[in-house]
Parts: sequence; structure tokens; C-alpha cells
Amino acid sequence: KPILFSGMQPSADSLHLGNYVGALTNWVAMQDDFDPIYCVVNQHAITVPYDPAELLTRTRTTAAQFLAAGIDVERSALFVQSDVAAHAELNWVLGSITGYGEAARMTQFKDKSQRHGTEATNVGLFTYPILMAADILLYRTQVVPVGEDQRQHIELARTLAERFNSRFGETFVVPEAHIVAESAKVYDLQNPGAKMSKSAESDAGLLRVLDDPKVTAKKIMRAVTDADGEIRFDRAAKPGVSNLLTIYSVLANRPIADLEAEYAGRGYGELKKGLAEVVTEVFTPIRERTNELLGDPAELDRLLARGADRARERAEPTITAVYERVGFPCPA
Ligand code: TYM
Repeated sequence: KPILFSGMQPSADSLHLGNYVGALTNWVAMQDDFDPIYCVVNQHAITVPYDPAELLTRTRTTAAQFLAAGIDVERSALFVQSDVAAHAELNWVLGSITGYGEAARMTQFKDKSQRHGTEATNVGLFTYPILMAADILLYRTQVVPVGEDQRQHIELARTLAERFNSRFGETFVVPEAHIVAESAKVYDLQNPGAKMSKSAESDAGLLRVLDDPKVTAKKIMRAVTDADGEIRFDRAAKPGVSNLLTIYSVLANRPIADLEAEYAGRGYGELKKGLAEVVTEVFTPIRERTNELLGDPAELDRLLARGADRARERAEPTITAVYERVGFPCPA
């Protein structure tokens, strides 16, 4: 089975709908046909201002949400990035084959550094995509399921794999991004021109997996739409309604055309009510299961420790090969 790797940052108390629709649903669905490795990327999360105690809690909460959503540790390796030292080791090697200008072109860095200001921008945020390339390349990953916002980072991982291979000899597999066109970008409910993101100015456009369903329903009922009253998918002319239809379609696992037919001639209020029900149906069991898992942190830590053992074992041959090729002494 093709090797799959993906990661998510533990940077909030709850995953948001964009993480769920753009990534996690695919992670769950891909477990049968791929050999998946899923990672809570806590080292990436320290590149912006954060609180250490909170990070530790969020690392567990993020892992618990993966499990609650259906990640099965029998089929998938699930672990925390900082538990496997080879990520940081490979990061250093890859950093020395990455051009400064190449890293400076990453649009997410440009956005984030602008948002945080020069004072709060650290070098970790700048080299972030190199660590991400290390995550991926370490496991000879073939497929990386992500949302649209990660496309450029995966392109860099491919470039670095090819460059290393041509400079030092065939070592890495060149990975492919797996981006599902319809769901790769979930938009902010209040600002359907921008992607849904935890760092949006207003909280009203962000749906969280672990939120009280009443809060979520209220946000959906207040979502920005348009004035023509027609329930029809048209990303350019009707971004708000199209976003609601996309979310509905993924969560209910129904084609958009079906939803257009069902809601034809009915108002946006009906569509929103229907969507709020579907979101509640999907998120309620995940929230309950997450809380159950968090009630037994020792068991959760045991699962993650076992995942880290598996990941370490799988990373070992790659980091050894890399060290040999770049001229670092290797134990016989
Ligand atoms: P992160 O933690 O920001 O997001 C996790 C996943 O959620 C997707 N996503 C979205 N998809 C659709 N619509 C949205 N509004 C939306 N917001 C977020 C992201 O595309 C991502 O798939 N750099 C990565 C984490 C990472 C990683 C990796 C991913 C580190 N190493 C190696 C893959 C492979 C990130 O910050 O994702």
C-alpha cells in the first residue's frame, strides 16, 4: 500500500471545520487503501506565540480528536512530532540545501510574518516548511493529503527531495500532494472570500468541532449569503451559499446537485437549518468520544508512545541513509 503522511498543528483547543472537512475526513477515509502515518506537529506550533502548558494540553486534545473522528491505531501510526528526534535531525540537513530566497517565497510565511509583525516573527516560522518537508520525506511518503493552503509547502518538499537525490544519490521518494478539489478550501462563514482559519479577525465565521452545538448553529444561521435568494452552487457569483453547500455535501456525503434539488425554491434559512443539523450530527459523537478519551490521559499517552515507537522504527533507515550520504559518521 502507498505510504501516506499528514500532520496537523495542535494550535487551538479544538480543530475547526476547515481542518475536519479539508483534511481529517480524508485521513479517515484513506486508511484502508494506504499505509498512513498521522502526526500532531507540535514543533511547528511553537513558531508563533504560545503557552507551554496549553500546548501540551492541546497536543493531547488534537490526538484525541483524530481518534474520535475515526483514526484507527491498528491501521494508522499516530504520534507526536517531538517524540521522534529524526524530524529535527532531517530538518537541519534539508535546511542546508534550501535556498534563502526559496524559503522567502513561501506565501504562508509572508502572510503570517506580516500578521505577527517583524518583532514577533522568529526564524522558526521562516524555516517551518523545511521541517514540514522533513516530516514527509522521512517516511518515504508517496501521498500527502492536505487542504489547498499547503500546496506550496508540498511543492517545496518535492523540490528538496529531487535536489538531495541528485546531489547525494537516490535517497528520498518524491511525494505527491492529495488535494480533494471540492473540499480543499473551506471559507469563513462571515467572509466567504477568505479561508476558514483560527486566526481570522472575527470568531463568528469559524466553526469548531468541540463547540457547543447551539453556538455552532447560531453561527451557521448568521452566515453571510447574498441577496438573490437562490440556492445554487456558483463559487464566483455566490461564494457564501456555495461554501454552505460544499460543507453540507462533505458532511452529509451527498452530491451538491442533490442538495440544490432538495432546497430548490426554499429560503437560505432552510438550508442553514439543515446544515446546522448535519454539523451537529457529525460533531456530537466526535465531541463526546474526545471527552471520553481525555478522561483517560494515561491510555492516550500509551497509544501515542506506541505510535512514536512505530514512527521511530520507520524513520531510522532514512535518517541513517541521509547521514551516510552527507558525510556524517554513522555507527556500524
Ligand atoms: P494546519 O495545522 O494549519 O492544518 C491542518 C490541515 O487542515 C487543512 N486546512 C483546511 N482545509 C480546508 N479549508 C480550510 N479552511 C483549512 N484550514 C486548514 C490544512 O490544509 C491541513 O491539511 N503545515 C501544516 C501541518 C504539517 C503537515 C506536515 C501537513 C506539518 N507537517 C506534513 C502535511 C504533511 C499545517 O499547518 O496545517
